[in-house]
Amino acid sequence: MTRLVLGIESSCDETAAAVVDEDQNVISSVVATQVDAHAEFGGVVPDLAARMHTEAIGGVVTKALKDAEVELKDISTIAVTQMPGLIGSLLVGVSFAEGLALSTGKPLYGIDHIEGHIWSGFMQDKTLTWPLMALVVSGGHTALYRYDGLGQIKMISRTVDDAAGEAFDKVAALLKLSYPGGPSIQKAAETGNPKAFKFPRGRVKKKPLHFSFSGLKTSVLYTLKGQDGLRSNINVEDYCVPDVAASFQEAVVDSLISKTFKALEEEKLETLVVCGGVAANSRLRERLKEESEKRSIKVVVPPLKLCTDNAMMIAGLGAAYLKEGRAPESVGLEARARSSLSR
Ligand code: KG4
Ligand code: ZN
Repeated sequence: MTRLVLGIESSCDETAAAVVDEDQNVISSVVATQVDAHAEFGGVVPDLAARMHTEAIGGVVTKALKDAEVELKDISTIAVTQMPGLIGSLLVGVSFAEGLALSTGKPLYGIDHIEGHIWSGFMQDKTLTWPLMALVVSGGHTALYRYDGLGQIKMISRTVDDAAGEAFDKVAALLKLSYPGGPSIQKAAETGNPKAFKFPRGRVKKKPLHFSFSGLKTSVLYTLKGQDGLRSNINVEDYCVPDVAASFQEAVVDSLISKTFKALEEEKLETLVVCGGVAANSRLRERLKEESEKRSIKVVVPPLKLCTDNAMMIAGLGAAYLKEGRAPESVGLEARARSSLSR
């Protein structure tokens, strides 16, 4: 009988659990999002996130097992996000998973959330092979990784300030658009002119593959506040919001595209996985398609439910490790805010 892995994810503001078999088939997936609770603050509030994970996790795991029509005894291995993320949030998932593993005697794997995101490409396209480049672009991360095999990840570049999704969220707040900012900016940009404003494409001195979005955000702020930056009350009605949104979105997408394809060239790679919430952006998807066709690069962008935070990618990666024969963790798995990959 095929072995089943229960995956648990709680690194940021989604409490998720999923059951995936060792051939990467998703049997069930449950995501409880906290996005509405954080919306009024314009971003994730760590203490609130941890408390909400504590309230949700039992029900989410129970539902994932129920939807898969299995019981805990039918699970071979438990996989849990160990890093990176908000420490209070991670601790909820790790403690819960450890409790389950200890009380049932099941093996436990600690999973790196970033490797999980990249792994979602393999779940989407079963023909995918190493080596490849991955662009992880979300509210918390913007980085390029070279992926050469299970656990073999090398960071090529990262943002030196804001993550791309964070920039979308902050600029949406300036434009008085709803949170999360990505979808609302995309919507506003539909009727805007991407060439209306000349926003900067962030460059990092001596690190041409690194990303930077804080200058872009400031440039949008000064555009709204007037050249001297002295207009304290921003009246968005004075501006064509779709034009600002479209020009901002174009600047973010331009940076992501140019650095990603430069990195592919430098690393001599021909396959790209793009994942994380910002991968939902339709303009980014359009540009990825154009560029990949021009340069004969295979691009895999998983569907939204696999792109945003979920436990399928955690269970799926756990299943890949199980198949490879990785040894389970010993007792006392430690949640870590930083990825061992991002140092
Ligand atoms: O991966 P995700 O769900 O959560 C983490 O940050 O880990 O990503 C959420 C981010 C938010 O910043 C949101 O504004 C952005 O992804 N996002 C988008 C779009 N949909 C979500 N950004 C641009 N365009 C979108 N369509
Ligand atoms: Zn994530």
